[in-house]
Amino acid sequence: MSDIAIIGGTGLTRLPELKITRREVVYTPYGEPSGPIMHGELAGREITFLARHGYAHTIPPHKVNYRANLWALKSIGVKRIVSVAAVGGIRADMEPGRIAFPHQIIDYTWGRPHTFFETDLDSVTHIDFTEPYCPECREILIDAARAASLEAIEDGVYAAMQGPRLETAAEIDKLERDGCDMVGMTGMPETALARELGLSYATCAVIANWAAGRGDVDIHSDIERSLLTGMERVVKLLHAALPKL
Ligand code: HPA
Repeated sequence: MSDIAIIGGTGLTRLPELKITRREVVYTPYGEPSGPIMHGELAGREITFLARHGYAHTIPPHKVNYRANLWALKSIGVKRIVSVAAVGGIRADMEPGRIAFPHQIIDYTWGRPHTFFETDLDSVTHIDFTEPYCPECREILIDAARAASLEAIEDGVYAAMQGPRLETAAEIDKLERDGCDMVGMTGMPETALARELGLSYATCAVIANWAAGRGDVDIHSDIERSLLTGMERVVKLLHAALPKL
């Protein structure tokens, strides 16, 4: 039984090198997860894998059942999650194809079921979310990226936007004024729900494109090209990090 899970996002609906040994369908009080949980082995370590948008990449960011996904992973014994998520780059060093480990997040999403602490409470609960990502897990990822010479970006503020549309240039200007360095659509409520369940959780962001108004190439062709490079780096990162996680 593995206590490590990878949640794969856009560009990582499958982990090609994962030797799958078992598929597990998990039922939760919050409904269905994005798909069965894959058990397997990567880099000599047992892991579990779940494709956030479904294995056919059909579930848009605002429709992902984040509560069911996190609950399902916790219920099978997962203790630590590395989430892989595509983002647009805002800060000048957030070049498409690079990977980054955000250290903070700002939530701009709305209308998504975003907490487990809603009904049947013994008392009102406010999780401490000052540091949204697990510092120990981030450190392992950062060290592994250094060891694998991946030139990863070691910090950054992630803006979680509602989607599924991409942003306007003015919205990206506003996010930059807010202090955001990268923009994605799935960081919330996933990050907070992991904390509510007491899971160690960190994100490896894959910069898929320059955010709206920042680059001089078409965003969609940018995404297609850069996700491939980025995901190769993610696989290298996982090989280096998994033995330590
Ligand atoms: N904006 C929001 N989410 C994203 C982007 C973007 O530019 N690229 C990949 N996910």
